Amino acid sequence: MMPRKTVGVVGRGYVGGAVAGGLAPISDVVVHDIAEPGSATIERVAGCDVVFVCVPTPAMPCGGADVSAVRSVIGALEHLASGAVVVIKSTVPPGTTEQLAVAYPRLAICCSPEFLRERSAAADFAAPARVIVGVPRGSAPQRHAPACELLRERFAGVPQLVMEATSAEMLKYASNAFFAVKVSFANELCELAQRLGIDWEPIRAALALDPRVGADHLQVPGPDGAPGYGGRCLPKDVSALLQLAEAAGGQLPVVASAAAANRKRRG
Ligand SMILES: NC(=O)c1ccc[n+]([C@@H]2O[C@H](COP(=O)([O-])OP(=O)(O)OC[C@H]3O[C@@H](n4cnc5c(N)ncnc54)[C@H](O)[C@@H]3O)[C@@H](O)[C@H]2O)c1
Repeated sequence: MMPRKTVGVVGRGYVGGAVAGGLAPISDVVVHDIAEPGSATIERVAGCDVVFVCVPTPAMPCGGADVSAVRSVIGALEHLASGAVVVIKSTVPPGTTEQLAVAYPRLAICCSPEFLRERSAAADFAAPARVIVGVPRGSAPQRHAPACELLRERFAGVPQLVMEATSAEMLKYASNAFFAVKVSFANELCELAQRLGIDWEPIRAALALDPRVGADHLQVPGPDGAPGYGGRCLPKDVSALLQLAEAAGGQLPVVASAAAANRKRRG
């Protein structure tokens, strides 16, 4: 049995709340949230063994992700000479963890993208398909070992995939872009079915039973009652990925047309 670890969580939103609640049975958790005056101080969080950064990364006007809150939290932890292993849970563009690891060398920074849904945050956090740990290139594995151990203990039996941080960051965008394309596809097919006087529901139900298709993201309208995709994550993450592709001189026509189709549906 491992000694019980202390865990700090920065940001008690959907992700931070689920992380704090989900790790409480196996660790001593303290939470710092800028909007919660009664929460723990950042100094207290900095003294923990492992700190999860769960602050927002909203879209900037150019479409890219604004990582300034993540950067400022990590800067504060470095300033406090925290010996913690820092795990970035926020969704950040590929390269962010590497850059922060170079800028703040006293911290052992890694990332572990989160795949929960807002409507079932705690349950999704508790039952991941796999746990991802992204580590900066050339970083010694033992620096991040406390985070890997903690996640292995909490998610016993769940595959833990350790990969380069840039791959882990890209995986999160790939996942949300895939869901966006799937929603736009389902909406398109549903609209055609309606035009032809065909009932979409039995088609959706049968597609859902094919494991190659999968049940999620085929519902039209979606869980919020509107066509297309909404929520706070899919639109901003798709836009960040498109901005990333453009900046790299690449193109993502499938993802771009899913986003354009969604703008038409959602206005
Ligand atoms: N919501 C989801 O379904 C989901 C799923 C996976 C990943 N994510 C990603 O996780 C991150 C957090 O998302 P969320 O939905 O939990 O956000 P949220 O808006 O629900 O919560 C963020 C919390 O962070 C706090 N905060 C902001 N800046 C802070 C700072 N400098 N110091 C301390 N606290 C601060 C806010 O007060 C808020 O309570 C984002 O990058 C998001 O893209 C979200």
